[in-house]
Amino acid sequence: MTSDTEHGHDNHAATDITGTHAWQELSAHQGHVYAMHLREVFAVDPKRGRDLVIDVGDLHIDYSKHRVLRETIDLLLSLAREVDLEGKRDAMFWGEHINTSEDRAVLHTALRLPAEATLKVDGQDVAADVHGVLDAMGTFTDSLRSGEWKGHTGKAIRTVVNIGIGGSDLGPAMVYQALRHYVDTDIHCRFVSNVDPADLVGTLADLDAETTLFIIASKTFSTLETLTNATAARSWLLRELGIDATDSNNPAVAKHFVAVSTNAEKVSAFGIDTDNMFGFWDWVGGRYSVDSAIGLSVMAAIGKEAFGEFLHGFNVMDKHFRSAPLHQNAPVILGLIGLWYNNFWGAQSRVVLPYSNDMARFAAYLQQLTMESNGKSVDSAGHHVTTDTGAIYWGEPGTNGQHAFYQLLHQGTRLVPADFIGFGSPTDDLPVDADGSGSMHDLLMSNFFAQTKVLAFGKTADEIADEGVDPHVVAHKVMPGNRPSTSILAPELTPSVLGQLIALYEHQVFVEGAIWGINSFDQWGVELGKTQAKELLAVIVDAAAPAPQDDSSTDALVRWYREQRGR
Ligand code: F6P
Repeated sequence: MTSDTEHGHDNHAATDITGTHAWQELSAHQGHVYAMHLREVFAVDPKRGRDLVIDVGDLHIDYSKHRVLRETIDLLLSLAREVDLEGKRDAMFWGEHINTSEDRAVLHTALRLPAEATLKVDGQDVAADVHGVLDAMGTFTDSLRSGEWKGHTGKAIRTVVNIGIGGSDLGPAMVYQALRHYVDTDIHCRFVSNVDPADLVGTLADLDAETTLFIIASKTFSTLETLTNATAARSWLLRELGIDATDSNNPAVAKHFVAVSTNAEKVSAFGIDTDNMFGFWDWVGGRYSVDSAIGLSVMAAIGKEAFGEFLHGFNVMDKHFRSAPLHQNAPVILGLIGLWYNNFWGAQSRVVLPYSNDMARFAAYLQQLTMESNGKSVDSAGHHVTTDTGAIYWGEPGTNGQHAFYQLLHQGTRLVPADFIGFGSPTDDLPVDADGSGSMHDLLMSNFFAQTKVLAFGKTADEIADEGVDPHVVAHKVMPGNRPSTSILAPELTPSVLGQLIALYEHQVFVEGAIWGINSFDQWGVELGKTQAKELLAVIVDAAAPAPQDDSSTDALVRWYREQRGR
């Protein structure tokens, strides 16, 4: 595989998507589907529950409970073809600079290429580079896991604390929790992200500095939260080891700090030996980086083999996305269905409901992946978009959500498409009854199936009245149904399955962004807040500084805060 100008695409050329033929047809078609209840849709097309499914890798994906007809899918696929989705997808895989505002390739898919692959981009074999770093990570984590790597006082490492934020935290934190059954050493990980000191203080409170190693994970190595926490962690370590806390060049630092970054210069300036720096590249976006060296903490916990299986899972989905025909292509179909609700039904959000407690952080992870990618108002040419873009993602593990917000999903006035994720075999199971019979996992999954069924088909007033319910209460008990969901099932939550799931969402983000014509790979919207926080810091700490805010609200807030702090 080589990058080749033959595959070139003019990514600056944006089309007004709403003016396409397929868009017009979809608009007209929506009214027809809107008038149908899913009960009717299933009655007229009884085989859809078996047909509107895609099996890919270990995933079984059922999209039949969506408010789509087979014709809807055809129209959505026409839209995808009209914007040359396949050409745009190939441009990403070939390493073209599709991140136009930063003039970068977007090659997270190269992070999971097998060792024998070659991918030349701008004359460089990026697959070889990736495996060079993976090998270095493997050697380092082997030495941690075997106890060969010693801290300053000669003790083996027992706790790895990953300090990072955003993509340098959410991915490893989510994966570590999801794969806790694969942690096969005495090494445990903790994650610190927030610049709120409570995070670091709480995390370090019961740790022994002699057996603690910090991974400072930051692509840029200039993120305020991460560098502030890293500096405080270094002071803590030196203090705890009985060394002057200001002696940042003390050799103890190199024994207890390693870095994951693209910025060697800043890593070295911090006092971390660049021999203990694990690199990645500007073509890996932060929110797409859990499968890069950013996953170092995960590798330390589960080992390089299991980490390799995790990467293999991504690669399974990459190959599918790249080669499956569009009508059987899971990220394409799910991305298009998401766009269908977003743009033709006015749905504002999408809820993700893993029936797996171990995936408790999955929705938070997806929030960055999806919303930092597709929360954009201009297209890649800089023109204001003509339709809504990225949905709001949220979610909690089932069954907790059932006892919190499902009321709104079932009977509220808003349409919230839902993704249910569940597993055939549990990571843990317990009997239901005191005599040892029954399975709590069966109980969990019966809830999964019940919820998707009730959302889709509901219960009518007649059915409720037939049960002898007090007529005054009937209306309150009506379950309207007609509420869409995807069911994603896998045999069990393995490293490979988790990789497949993450890549499934990554590529849906791509599909939607490509159709909207936006750049899913920059994040300029986070910058202004960072610079203004720096300016405001100078104002809130200095009693002598005037409160120079030119709006009366911020001015009053700053004054209030300074008063509280006695300034
Ligand atoms: O501010 C947003 C962001 O740039 C994310 O895109 C990124 O994942 C996060 O900050 C952390 O950045 P870094 O890895 O450079 O510290």
